[in-house]
Amino acid sequence: MASAPAIGFDVYGTLVDPLGISVELRRFVGDDADRVAQLWRATQLEYTWRRSLMGAYEPFSVCTAQALDFAARSLGHQLAPGATATLLEMYRQLPAFPEAAAGLERIRRATHRMVAFSNGEAAVVRAVLISAGLLPLLEDVVSVDELKIYKPAPAIYRHLATRMGTAMGDTWLVSSNPFDVIGAKAAGLRAAWVCRNPRAILDPWGLEPDLVVSDLVELSECFE
Ligand code: LAC
Repeated sequence: MASAPAIGFDVYGTLVDPLGISVELRRFVGDDADRVAQLWRATQLEYTWRRSLMGAYEPFSVCTAQALDFAARSLGHQLAPGATATLLEMYRQLPAFPEAAAGLERIRRATHRMVAFSNGEAAVVRAVLISAGLLPLLEDVVSVDELKIYKPAPAIYRHLATRMGTAMGDTWLVSSNPFDVIGAKAAGLRAAWVCRNPRAILDPWGLEPDLVVSDLVELSECFE
């Protein structure tokens, strides 16, 4: 690639795996762990979109906690307060995707500027990335909490470019979340979709990513 772009990496789903929490969930909900993990994640995102539309922002950790309560009870599980506390604590220790560190390291060696760019509050994202061993590979954390509206509001993607001091066309979003990729493209950023699941599809909105890769190591080859 000719010029050195600035890159914002989505966190949940792109650098760390939110569904990795099902290992912990199993202790509390048994064989429903995968279903609770999936509904928890889907509800967490739904809550961010609804709160943005309502003008009723609460931090991502609140959306996460309320979504856990909803998901567990929807599938017939009443979590004791201690179980909830444990699960929310473990949500700060989500596993990194296996190739994430190697991919980030290679992109960093190509002298690209790289930040985490997340719905999560900066302090929480830092804790998650420290636990995952990824924070030293990133120069900063840019959080939607600075604007108090969630992805995919266009202002959030403009904020990433502003924080990095780059033109929109030189600023990349890297995300596995289709709604995030489409939001970035609609706002005028460049975007790479990390599609780890070959069966995943991008919403047919006519807003295509600039790059589609299967993981972050493959992405690093595009940025060399
Ligand atoms: C994030 C959400 C999209 O990290 O998972 O911003």
